[in-house]
Amino acid sequence: MKKIKMGMIGGGIGAFIGDAHRRASRICNDYELVGGVFDIEYARSKEFALKEGISLDRCYNSVDALIKGELARPAGEKMEVVSIVTPNALHYPQAKKLLNKGFHLVCEKPMTMTVREALDLESLVAKTKLTFALTHTYTGYPMVRQMRDLIAKGVLGTIQRIDAQYYQGWINSIIYGTNSRITGVWRLDPKHAGVSSCMGDIGVHAFNLIEYTTGLEIKEVLSDLSQVKDGIKLDLDGTVLIRFDKKLKGVIRASQVCGGLENDITISVYGSKGSLRWGQENPNYLYMFSDTEPTKVFKPAHGYNYKLAEEGHTMPAGHPEGIYEALANIYKGTAKSIRKQKFIPGEFPTVHDGVRGMKFIHAVVNSNTKGNVWMKV
Ligand SMILES: NC(=O)c1ccc[n+]([C@@H]2O[C@H](COP(=O)([O-])OP(=O)(O)OC[C@H]3O[C@@H](n4cnc5c(N)ncnc54)[C@H](O)[C@@H]3O)[C@@H](O)[C@H]2O)c1
Repeated sequence: MKKIKMGMIGGGIGAFIGDAHRRASRICNDYELVGGVFDIEYARSKEFALKEGISLDRCYNSVDALIKGELARPAGEKMEVVSIVTPNALHYPQAKKLLNKGFHLVCEKPMTMTVREALDLESLVAKTKLTFALTHTYTGYPMVRQMRDLIAKGVLGTIQRIDAQYYQGWINSIIYGTNSRITGVWRLDPKHAGVSSCMGDIGVHAFNLIEYTTGLEIKEVLSDLSQVKDGIKLDLDGTVLIRFDKKLKGVIRASQVCGGLENDITISVYGSKGSLRWGQENPNYLYMFSDTEPTKVFKPAHGYNYKLAEEGHTMPAGHPEGIYEALANIYKGTAKSIRKQKFIPGEFPTVHDGVRGMKFIHAVVNSNTKGNVWMKV
């Protein structure tokens, strides 16, 4: 099948997530990277293009130049989808321009800076009927998809509590000056990151995992956030009480200052008949607990899994797959949508997940600012 011609904004030399997007697009084998605006500095963008073997006439110095250059190409050669992997503040203006000119999009989270921008993108996607995938990467893991299916089948009985946590520690090195990482520091600057660091960068993944695996919407939040240290402008740590309805409640905990922790995102859904727990640092194991039976462990590449979970693991059982394959599964679902093939809802997060994420981030920040009060999501 013909490869989908893909462009990329951001993701140049030294950037973090752009490289994962390129690898994922190659793993699923549906895309060909043909051009982009890879860096804020044009010279570095060209350096990257040369290294990647991308023709310099498709290495553009702005999104406007990319649109102009690509629209001038014959239909079969034109870039069809663009991956936006720039810092948060750029997602909305870049996505809006590209959607208006007919490009499908893969966009990083958090989708925008404000709820209004998110709603604007949602109506633009509805109007243009273009594909828009938001890369909440963890939804691509086979065992997360298995968890979603088991919950939909009702194996847990009545869901009675939901907890998710996302703990990292890397920001300690930035705020205490040891500075072991130079990319990504824009996350602490409201101009580039938005109203939140911790909740906007990682709390929103925990929020998305809850809504993805359970199919439930969080209705209200009450948060207690901390900037941890004087002189820091945004939250680096926080706890969020969540309410689905009068009876079902839970908590989201997120932190960027848990010294020594790496990428510890874990979700637990507790029900009347049993409970499920998944954690990304050991992603091929989904635990099911019961009061009457021994603990079960679901693993990828076994016939007992649901179709989407089973198809999301490419090697025979016992060969660990991880974050690149999870992102590749999202790219695979996105390719089906671009090609107008049948796909299963949940194969990739959509612009609606982006709207939900922005409502969550703003409700959490407002709850904290107003003195830790309940806010609607
Ligand atoms: N889904 C996930 O799990 C995940 C993980 C990491 C990052 N992210 C998201 O991805 C985005 C990028 O994060 P990162 O950590 O890769 O950032 P980064 O700082 O490592 O890379 C950003 C890249 O964007 C480029 N850039 C900046 N301004 C630009 C412009 N005007 N035009 C073109 N390129 C420009 C930079 O030169 C750099 O190459 C953020 O929105 C972040 O929240 C998501």
